[in-house]
Amino acid sequence: MGGYILAIDQGTTSSRAIVFDSGQRVVGVGQREFPQLFPRSGWVEHNPEDIWESVIWSARVALENAGIAASELAGIGITNQRETVVVWERETGRPIHNAIVWQDRRTASRCDELKSRGLEETFTVKTGLLLDPYFSGTKLAWLLDNVEGARARAARGELCFGTVDTFLIWRLTGGRSFKTDATNASRTLLFDIARNAWDDELLEILDVPRAMLPEVLDCAADFGMTEREHLGAEVPILGVAGDQQAATIGQACFDPGMMKSTYGTGCFALLNTGADMVRSNNRLLTTIAYRLDGKTTYALEGSIFIAGAAVQWLRDGLKIIGAASEASELAAKADPNQQVYLVPAFTGLGAPHWDPDARAAIYGMTRGTGPAEFARAALEAVCYQTRDLLDAMRGDWTNGTSETVLRVDGGMVVSDWTMQRLADILDAPVDRPTILETTALGAAWLAGHRAGVWPDRAGIAGSWARDRRFEPQMDQTTRAAKVAGWKDAVRRTLSGG
Ligand code: G3P
Repeated sequence: MGGYILAIDQGTTSSRAIVFDSGQRVVGVGQREFPQLFPRSGWVEHNPEDIWESVIWSARVALENAGIAASELAGIGITNQRETVVVWERETGRPIHNAIVWQDRRTASRCDELKSRGLEETFTVKTGLLLDPYFSGTKLAWLLDNVEGARARAARGELCFGTVDTFLIWRLTGGRSFKTDATNASRTLLFDIARNAWDDELLEILDVPRAMLPEVLDCAADFGMTEREHLGAEVPILGVAGDQQAATIGQACFDPGMMKSTYGTGCFALLNTGADMVRSNNRLLTTIAYRLDGKTTYALEGSIFIAGAAVQWLRDGLKIIGAASEASELAAKADPNQQVYLVPAFTGLGAPHWDPDARAAIYGMTRGTGPAEFARAALEAVCYQTRDLLDAMRGDWTNGTSETVLRVDGGMVVSDWTMQRLADILDAPVDRPTILETTALGAAWLAGHRAGVWPDRAGIAGSWARDRRFEPQMDQTTRAAKVAGWKDAVRRTLSGG
């Protein structure tokens, strides 16, 4: 057996697999996009078979590119799009419905109904989350309500519920392992993050039978052995974490006060708060950053639903750019005297507003407004939203967040223009690491460390290296005017506004 680790990163729009060698270097990559299904306005689904096939295909390609056999792997780490719900038959492994994706808003009215019964506090105190359709709980309840016979079958133990990690573990192990990790469990709206246990009261409110829930393990643990037929050898699955938590690990944010922000489809900023379960007064989430050796580390999280997706809209919707990488080049040409704002509430607004009914809007256009101003508005929206999250975090956690440097990763951070604008809008430094595969790296570290072939926490933190620090350069007056314009645009976009 070699010291290689396979990281499977099952994301919202594509599945990736990366082989790392024992020196934490990337030696093979496989990636495949899969279809996004939009059966109705506000609904987003994935076919679980598409997810599964794209994962297996990517893993095989990654091994091939690395020039190694699965028998040389010391372990597998899985990281995944969080909150997305899959329900399948225990007997056959067949899903009973498409997966309902985290972006899906179909349960907005259910959340309203629960709120009107005064139940938000009950959920928030136990789970650290809010009653928003984003989380798994109401999505699972929807499936049980809408797929004929599902609830009775679930109560008889015939159905399994899982986030995508659990579904993949189940499939990879031929149904022998029905497990998840604490970070994924913490996003379901069913898990008490203080007791680290599924919560009977919440299960009862949503009428979810306990028999359908997986066992919850630490992030580095024995999640089962893959069947030989999938990769060509049996390989132990030794690490699991939701993708934003895996990125937190990959960015080595192990100390309280360290913060990362990942710019993928959406943007998710996590601030490590150590053993403290910090309750937010600013509508941020309290969540599990990781659980290792039975010890839980918590985080404050700000979740923005649209980041890179706004650039995709420039490319696929407006067709004003041919490739995502062209957005910042175009934005740099925008007229500095025009203040055009895009509030990208395409699927509602996440933190700190949590307004599922808001819809996107553009403000400040003149006859001189063109593609360059649109591109700048889309990129700046990501910066303003990050600033809103950081402001909320500073309000909630006063142990020195003001000095915190933001570590960034994800597809958008390769753009120097965008990162400089981010530092300018935040009025804080932004650090871009040399390794941008932080999500996969985090999952690989969990497995590699568990397998005994990778260094400990201090070792991985020591090998984190900065590619570039972006320092704020914008003058205060310009920044203040721009931020005020943004706040006004958001106020006008909120559904109650
Ligand atoms: O909470 C949703 C998040 O986990 C999705 O991440 O990278 O697949 O867009 P990503």
